[in-house]
Amino acid sequence: MHWPCCHGQHYFPAAFVVADTFAVKIVELGTLVAEAAFRTPFGFRRSSLLDLYFKIWRRVAMFIVCSQKAKYWVVDSAMFHALPFVLESAPQSASKFDEAIHLTYLVSSTTDSLSGTTALPGDKSISHRSLLLGALAIGETVVHGLLEGEDVLNTANAIRKLGAKAERDEAGVWYIHGVGIGGLREPESVIDLGNSGTGARLLLGVLAGHPITAFITGDASLCSRPMNRVADPLSGFGALFVSREGGRLPLAVKGATDPMPITYRLPVPSAQVKSAVLLAGLNAPGYTTVIEPEPTRDHTEMMLRHFGAELDISNGDEGDLNIRLTGQPELSGQQVVVPGDPSSAAFPAVAALISSGSDVILTGVGMNPRRIGLFETLAEMGADIDFQNERTEAGESVADLRIRGSRLRGVEVPPERAPRMIDEYPVLAMAAAVAEGETVMRGVKELRVKESDRLAAVAQGLSNCGVTVEEGEDYLIVHGKNGRAPGGCTVATDLDHRIAMSFLVLGTASEKPVTVDDAGPIDTSFPGFVDLMNGLGANIGAGNQ
Ligand code: S3P
Repeated sequence: MHWPCCHGQHYFPAAFVVADTFAVKIVELGTLVAEAAFRTPFGFRRSSLLDLYFKIWRRVAMFIVCSQKAKYWVVDSAMFHALPFVLESAPQSASKFDEAIHLTYLVSSTTDSLSGTTALPGDKSISHRSLLLGALAIGETVVHGLLEGEDVLNTANAIRKLGAKAERDEAGVWYIHGVGIGGLREPESVIDLGNSGTGARLLLGVLAGHPITAFITGDASLCSRPMNRVADPLSGFGALFVSREGGRLPLAVKGATDPMPITYRLPVPSAQVKSAVLLAGLNAPGYTTVIEPEPTRDHTEMMLRHFGAELDISNGDEGDLNIRLTGQPELSGQQVVVPGDPSSAAFPAVAALISSGSDVILTGVGMNPRRIGLFETLAEMGADIDFQNERTEAGESVADLRIRGSRLRGVEVPPERAPRMIDEYPVLAMAAAVAEGETVMRGVKELRVKESDRLAAVAQGLSNCGVTVEEGEDYLIVHGKNGRAPGGCTVATDLDHRIAMSFLVLGTASEKPVTVDDAGPIDTSFPGFVDLMNGLGANIGAGNQ
């Protein structure tokens, strides 16, 4: 890389040409970044930025330099005098920048078949909860198999800002030193939860029960998601919220000084809302009750009991579940073993199913009955999946999955199954695209308020790839190709990890390659996704813009 020089001073070429696709991201520039909460515009990795000594709070701007060769550079906007220093670090950072830039676009090409045995990263839902409950417990919590994706690392940073200790020992092994319920301290700066709805909503529950004020923000995706669904019930405890319209982040929360317990019937089937209410109820005297008309994932309930809380779960009217928490328990530090994430297993599983001749074993996958709706649906589609070595590890059901390439048939997914497979619809749609016949998914409007509007993103992406889709407010119908999808398209990731991974899976069984425009979000939930998939025989690599 050649850096122009004039009278001993480095300078940037006059023409900073900004490609349209990046213009939007340039808007992010000028945001405050910190070591703990790097935003990574252009898909840069944190490590690349750290190489540039962005280790302290500072305002940054990004310039696109030498656009012909698509080189990008990061500088501190207020500190042009620092440029020579920054540029000196160019030689050792340049290759990492190239790597980071090229990773932004990923292309997935047809694979003959997948084979091999692999384990999955830790469950994201359980990882978030282990950090939050560890922070509220007295004593040491040891977490084995914590997911070290960006979402969970942001939650770890959040609990540190609130006074708990979270230390990594070896990969996946973390030590948390909690401060006890009610013991969190006011954070000195804004808490940035990045891309994570779970991190934000569960943390708001925790904060609502503490008499402190905190400011919460996130990336563009998180800042567009509804937070009223938690702010409304949490106000019942006495917490105050000041937010953008529609309860959107950034927001300020002033937790209740004397939280009052509530009884709350969930208006949407959401484990995040249920969990936020239960976490706030920890610091309220008496009983906090959540009434759940449709069962959602129960990791919070299981883990609360594991840490010593008293929880009574009974059947109510019309099939409701009443979940009653006794407030102000003493939680004590525990050992937590995090199983492999079934939502992450979904990607290699579907990739194996849609390539004939595949034979893949995914070990140690969490089999919580409230998480396995996708596997039930795939079985109805004709998938050959064996659940082997079923066991219980630290209270959660776990199994090894042997998956063989299968001819899939379209099915109608029962709407009541949605809460048990809510994150898996995008990848199910990929299986549906190569299946024979129609796959009908109804009762799925919650997909519109995920990291992206997933119904719109899937419908648009599949039609770009030559697959016919019908999209309604609350449904998606995919007309299967009964064979490979045409492909040969680029799909917009929309800051959504599951959209990126789903379409890379489709590319493994498409006539022509499928490109995703921004692979960066994959690291929020599935670090090492590309290596894992390629290790099984997929063909995913750097793509062109
Ligand atoms: C999660 C609950 C689900 C899911 C999310 C993780 C959790 O969200 O989509 O990825 O860990 O509680 P909702 O509660 O909004 O359905």
